[in-house]
Amino acid sequence: MARLCGTKLSKDSRKMQEKTGQFGFTFSGPRKYTRLSPAFVARVPQDDLTSAKNVVVEESALTSDTVYDKDSVEPRLAINIKSPCPVPEAGIQRCREVMESGRMFRYGGLTPGANNPDQTVDDVSLVEKSFADVTGHKYCVALNSCGSAIFLAVFAVLKKEHERLSKIPGPTKILTNAFTFAAVPSAIVHAGCEPEYVNCTDQFVIDVEDFERKAKESGAKIAIVSHMRGRLCDMSGVAEVCKKYDITLIEDCAHSLGCDWKGVKSGSSEHGTVAACFSAQSNKLINSGEGGFLVTDDEEVAVRAILCAGSYEYLYKSHLAAPENYELFEKLKFETPNYSLRMHQITAAIIEPQLPLLEDRYKKHRYNYAIADRRLCELEGIRLPGTLDGATGVGDSLQFNLKNRNWDEAHAFCKECAKRGVPMEIFGAADNARNFKTWQFALPPSDCEPSYKHIEYAADLRLPLHLTESDVHTICDVIEFSLKVTS
Ligand SMILES: Cc1ncc(COP(=O)(O)O)c(C=O)c1O
Repeated sequence: MARLCGTKLSKDSRKMQEKTGQFGFTFSGPRKYTRLSPAFVARVPQDDLTSAKNVVVEESALTSDTVYDKDSVEPRLAINIKSPCPVPEAGIQRCREVMESGRMFRYGGLTPGANNPDQTVDDVSLVEKSFADVTGHKYCVALNSCGSAIFLAVFAVLKKEHERLSKIPGPTKILTNAFTFAAVPSAIVHAGCEPEYVNCTDQFVIDVEDFERKAKESGAKIAIVSHMRGRLCDMSGVAEVCKKYDITLIEDCAHSLGCDWKGVKSGSSEHGTVAACFSAQSNKLINSGEGGFLVTDDEEVAVRAILCAGSYEYLYKSHLAAPENYELFEKLKFETPNYSLRMHQITAAIIEPQLPLLEDRYKKHRYNYAIADRRLCELEGIRLPGTLDGATGVGDSLQFNLKNRNWDEAHAFCKECAKRGVPMEIFGAADNARNFKTWQFALPPSDCEPSYKHIEYAADLRLPLHLTESDVHTICDVIEFSLKVTS
């Protein structure tokens, strides 16, 4: 466990800090708080995060200097936190090969088959196989986005469970988070269903009590639980409610690659989840600009999703992470529409070399997050939500609530941060796509004021992979400074 510099923590902060395992670090040390300094930063090797974890910093080595931009007496971040992660060289090379071959169609195939050199294997099938290994699922369907994956998961469940669902009068309702991204209710209405919104807690995760209440009241038989910003809810509680009310569970894991609940990976069928949906959009842990995956252990859901994504005639035979039940493909293929939601070969070429890098990416994010968390929980004007005992995050973004501010004051704070190179958004802003009040297309909830209270002044900050430890400190300095000058 890392032992970073100590601090005089508030009671709440200390409780939070003492929670071990959450991000893989604990913090303890001398009583007196000393701001982490360039001396500290210099002592932590950036290229060896394993040894970084074991660094012990003596208080005497710390100074009160802050890590400011060299041209400014006030904190200012000199790099762009909105820049996405670049594609590894191997991915760039592979894109060139694919483009030179002209075989960009998902079923184009470029790599010679292992058993028959006359046959080829496409990059999308290869990445499906690799991604299924990452999440621990039997089957994987690569798609053009996570939104498509959620839509296809709902579509497949509606078809598979048609008989029992058709006995329920009225529109098909789907339980989901009131606090999530607009793509989730959009996928629900795309599938011809109605969202039944569930409140979040002050940790921004689904409130299991409200989940049960809404399950009972609405009679919904499908749920999409969305792990916004990689914050895992009480998955044991969710699984219990789903079992009790015979609800089919889909997980939106757009942000939760690498996260787990009590050691069980997010999206795993161990919680009864029938399909889990992941994103490779630029701000996620894998960046292909656009892209998504549906993973499942359910044979029929996999077959239906593959067909519906755009596998026609006998193309399903080239999949490497699909059921080998060709009879089922043949039985269902003519009744299944082709929505053309396939992943592009270039997207797969971009993703494949990123998968072996994931463990290092998690490690670096967790390390940086732990530092930011540790610094920010000191500040008076904000409240960090913490995470549930049992949830392990990755920490590629950070959220906190601004205390005792009205909208003008919150705006002034954000403006000051942005001016100093640390742009962030407020979830409750009138134009934020995570503010459910903006979802006029999807029956925005009228009974989710408790959720709104939690997100109204919640700031959302990216912590991209390219941040150095010194950058993380500068971000914290900017937040501290901006809180002061706008209070
Ligand atoms: C919580 C959540 N779910 C789903 C999605 C949809 O992902 P995609 O952009 O890959 O469709 C997003 C997008 O960022 C998201 O934030």
